[in-house]
Amino acid sequence: MPIKKAVLPVAGLGTRFLPATKAQPKEMLPIVDKPTIQYVVEEAIKSGVDDFLFVTGKDKRALEDYFDHSGELERHLSEKGKTELLELVQTIASMCQVHYVRQKKPLGLGHAVYCARQHVGNEYFAVLLGDDLVISEVPCLRQMMDVHEATGKPVIAIRRVPHQNVSSYGIIAGKPVGDRTWEITDLVEKPKPEDAPSDLAVIGRYILPPDIFPILENLPPGVGGEIQLTDALRELLKKTPIIGYEFEGIRYDVGDPKGFLVATVEIALSRDDLKGDFGKYLGRLVRERGLLPE
Ligand code: UTP
Repeated sequence: MPIKKAVLPVAGLGTRFLPATKAQPKEMLPIVDKPTIQYVVEEAIKSGVDDFLFVTGKDKRALEDYFDHSGELERHLSEKGKTELLELVQTIASMCQVHYVRQKKPLGLGHAVYCARQHVGNEYFAVLLGDDLVISEVPCLRQMMDVHEATGKPVIAIRRVPHQNVSSYGIIAGKPVGDRTWEITDLVEKPKPEDAPSDLAVIGRYILPPDIFPILENLPPGVGGEIQLTDALRELLKKTPIIGYEFEGIRYDVGDPKGFLVATVEIALSRDDLKGDFGKYLGRLVRERGLLPE
């Protein structure tokens, strides 16, 4: 069965991005001129998803307004004859079917996913995190759906990370079973480098079965006192094999300021309307400040 529903948990506190996230979700911070969340929604739409559930928390109104019509703005643009901009804002409001459920307390990503159980019902679904941006020719989620459709199994996006960084991620143990695919044998949340079973990190894209919900319902808090999705996946492994898929594409961790800046600069340099002037400016800056590596 093709995946039609996507769950986007956006109820985290975004502490790595304070104070910008004090009164708005980090998913609304723009990369160049588009909120992060729109890149993620576009990836899912291009992959074939047509139903979105945002798991929201407090201060998420900006996000709800963003995917809705704005009467005053649209009237203004229409009166001024700014038809291109009018089309742009109208497209965003009608690009997808959006639903919301509230996570009343930020108890962890696992708990946020659990909040989606009624909406998802009894079918496989996708989870996409706004912290991870993937720029690729074939959308990352589409690549994963192809693996899911071929195997009928849950699929998790994975990526090799530098060994010293493993403690920032969920890390898998597994054996290769095909092109870019691994059969996962274990998962560990944020291990110390000396304890990590591999350098293959879980990235924020998942294709999950509904069986994950009863597991999440009974899961005790894990690392950081949060209900961890990684712990639920570990339980799921006891019932069904899970595939780790090393997707093709460039991944940016936009959940922290450094990754966010890298994404902003690289995406700006990939745009025809910006790369000329902005590229020259960057080149000049690098020369003037002596920033070239030795
Ligand atoms: P993170 O741990 O990266 O998000 O969770 P965070 O807590 O917002 O960020 P920091 O670490 O404090 O800066 C990964 C994803 O899970 C969501 C977040 O919104 C993010 O998309 N999340 C996390 C929830 O929806 N609810 C939670 O209780 C926790």
